[in-house]
Amino acid sequence: MVMRTISQIAVQLMDYCPFPFTITHVSLVFDLNQEHTVVTTMMTVERRVYDGAKEAPFQLDGVGLELLELSLNGQKLDPNDYHLDEVGLIIPMVPDAFKLETKVAINPAANTALSGLYISAGRFCTQCEAEGFRHITFWPDRPDVMSRFHVRIEAPQDQFPTLLSNGNCVAIGQYGDGRHWASWDDPYPKPSYLFALVAGSFDTWTDHFTTRSGREVSLCIYVDHGVSPRASYAMDALKRAMAWDEKTFDREYDLDVFNIVAVADFNFGAMENKGLNIFNSALVLADETTATDTDYEAIEAVVAHEYFHNWSGNRVTCRDWFQLSLKEGLTVFRDQEFSADQRSRAVKRIQDSKALRGRQFSEDSGPLAHPVRPSSYVKIENFYTTTIYEKGAEIVRIIQTLIGEQAFKDGLNLYFDDYDGTAATIEDWLHAMRMASDNPLTGIERWYDQAGTPLLTVSSSFDEGTQRLRLFFRQATPDTPGQTTKSWVPIPIKLAFFDHNGAMLRLTLAGTEAAADEWLIPMASDRLVIEFEGASRQPVASYLRGFSAPVRLRADQTSADLALLAACDTDPFVRWESAQTIFRSSLLLVSRALAKGEEPEIPDDLHRVFQGSLGEAGRDPAFAALLLRLPEVPDLMQLQANCNPSNLVAARVYVRSVIAQQLDGPLSACFATYDPAQEFSTGAAAAGRRALMAACLDLLSATGTDRAALRAANLFAAARNMTDTMAALSALSQFGGPRYDAALNAFRNHYQDNALVMDKWFRVQAMALCGDPLTTYATLRSDPLFTLTNPNRVRALGGAFAQGNPAAFHRDDGEGYALMGTLISDVDRLNSALAARLATFFDSCVRVDEARRLAAFRTIEGLLANNSLSANTREILTKIISGLTA
Ligand code: TRP
Ligand code: ZN
Repeated sequence: MVMRTISQIAVQLMDYCPFPFTITHVSLVFDLNQEHTVVTTMMTVERRVYDGAKEAPFQLDGVGLELLELSLNGQKLDPNDYHLDEVGLIIPMVPDAFKLETKVAINPAANTALSGLYISAGRFCTQCEAEGFRHITFWPDRPDVMSRFHVRIEAPQDQFPTLLSNGNCVAIGQYGDGRHWASWDDPYPKPSYLFALVAGSFDTWTDHFTTRSGREVSLCIYVDHGVSPRASYAMDALKRAMAWDEKTFDREYDLDVFNIVAVADFNFGAMENKGLNIFNSALVLADETTATDTDYEAIEAVVAHEYFHNWSGNRVTCRDWFQLSLKEGLTVFRDQEFSADQRSRAVKRIQDSKALRGRQFSEDSGPLAHPVRPSSYVKIENFYTTTIYEKGAEIVRIIQTLIGEQAFKDGLNLYFDDYDGTAATIEDWLHAMRMASDNPLTGIERWYDQAGTPLLTVSSSFDEGTQRLRLFFRQATPDTPGQTTKSWVPIPIKLAFFDHNGAMLRLTLAGTEAAADEWLIPMASDRLVIEFEGASRQPVASYLRGFSAPVRLRADQTSADLALLAACDTDPFVRWESAQTIFRSSLLLVSRALAKGEEPEIPDDLHRVFQGSLGEAGRDPAFAALLLRLPEVPDLMQLQANCNPSNLVAARVYVRSVIAQQLDGPLSACFATYDPAQEFSTGAAAAGRRALMAACLDLLSATGTDRAALRAANLFAAARNMTDTMAALSALSQFGGPRYDAALNAFRNHYQDNALVMDKWFRVQAMALCGDPLTTYATLRSDPLFTLTNPNRVRALGGAFAQGNPAAFHRDDGEGYALMGTLISDVDRLNSALAARLATFFDSCVRVDEARRLAAFRTIEGLLANNSLSANTREILTKIISGLTA
């Protein structure tokens, strides 16, 4: 008797076993009805030839399926011939080759988890990654089982005129009773997680693309009625992505059609189903009146990301979910490179490093820290994390830096060609990179297997006599939950030197002839000493140029060194980072003074750095806008144990107001150069001017003067695009009061029928410092436009509150935690993946002071006491609570 149990038991990487059968072909028939869809599956199965496969039972995953029929080679199976339970179906005795037919019934209308087949705005759609397909039919729902899919969809024609699945449409037809059907065939074998089906009524935005080898591809984006022009930007991004992947990495598209469907209810950003990407509508629909520049950037990046998965993910997929970063890290790297080429490479690198350090470093130093390749998990949906995605992309970048651009490109081609049509591992990927480069990449596996952010410490000394500069590097990776012994990782350190006038110095590696302006030092040990000569005084060193590795840096730099780098470095990342380092230490000083009730002092450096940043306004407005922004509170929280987030918020408010008063003249002048009436363009240059204007307005609003409030209100009235409107609205949210209320009302009246725009209205209020944030939250939570069933809306309120309003979330009376707790338990009953994601926001609680930690503990304890809490949310909260008590 074969037994299986459902539980919180973790899946282990070590336990990987291949599936003992191949399913060469599968034919699926969907008889679509909202409450009762019947799925008929016919699979052609062969036993694989290896020892362990010989007597293996045939095991299929299946959850929430009503089994209607089951037959093997046309013979109905007797209930004694199989075992059926809550997690699947096992047939102990099967021949070496057979056909299995199953017929199941499912209820898409009752599916609020948005995994499997569900209904959004009256249309059928699917989400199968990671384990959604088992909610549709019985199947070995694992990425290493790849089959040729043939899909037939039947539905009432008037309500569901569009019927889509993967691959090419091969036949359509009608029945007499008002129902019609379509057949889709995908010529590329794929795992079940890439399956997709859509049925409904849409408007479309179409175009076409001719690939490098002359294949004509029809491109189509399916959207809500009446808004198809809002898909034009996504379409443009798609065509640019297709051309870019051909040019940059020799990757061509491989089907005759590429379809994208925008849906309103979606757990994630988007999904790369073969030939039929499904997108959160927030990442498709945009025009100047509804989308901000940040939205445009995100659309461009995510459209490219999903398209790039066609190679990094689909043609070469993952052996198991432990290899998730194999497709996600690589695809993020590819979309980052694409965006860098479309816009400003320097600005993109700063944005990416900022996001990595804000989110991933924080995850990596808390209770949810895990390796890029974890060794175990309970719920795979909980592992779609910034570590898997963004740190994974950084490892790809480290490899590129270490082996060089050409070898990297060769290695990527080798990887795609050698592993095409297979389910690969991180070892396979590294093998291709090693083959292409002759670089052993020693220790690179540890980047995948060790959690935690390495700390790189540098101390320098200059010998006046020999005129040698000696740099001493050390690295160490901190302990993380379950991982205490760690070893060095390869760190590419990009370096340069400046004299005290800010001129770049060309130094020589001591004892050699080698001279250069910029150095790449591949650190491959715990410690490294390196000496340079050729400077007459101790030079100023610029470390980790271009953010050459995802590490924390602790260098013995004086604030004068940092100020010099912030003003003069030729590397934009180091300029920005040096300014941020100055800001961070000033903010911490101010917060300590405020905590003690003392009058804080603001170092002069700060004022000078801001002035220098404003000086950048004429040359590169987007860069200037980044330079003008102070570090965020979550960044500061990472630097302190037992911190009081309210103090950090207060320090930020204080410093902003002082700077804004000091620089009122130049900031106002810079703001005044912006003309809100000018013609809109989505290009990077125009977006940069808007970003700079918004940065000036944001700082100016910190003065709190009525003049500043009026300036924001005037922009709100004059704004002709959503970027400016949101800049004005969030500036007004710093003041509160009648101007802000009037703007909120006007906004609501104008956009109440556009859910994506209303999400912005929820978000700005959830993050606002003005008024009483708890009252604001309660009002928004009971607003008729609030709904628990739409993930975007839930995130616009809950996510924005927990992440974007640290003083309110981390209130010392625990009320912020309590209301997030309530939201999590309400959402958990409907959509556990979404609830688990909201639960991750509690991980910052390990860094707050004891009273707050206790309050967070109580809320989490209360949630865990509920026996019907989902396994997803339970996994996250259990980890956090052990971090709180550690
Ligand atoms: N593979 C998707 C991406 O990164 C991620 C994704 C989409 C996802 N929908 C999901 C992951 C649902 C988990 C659950 O492009
Ligand atoms: Zn992805």
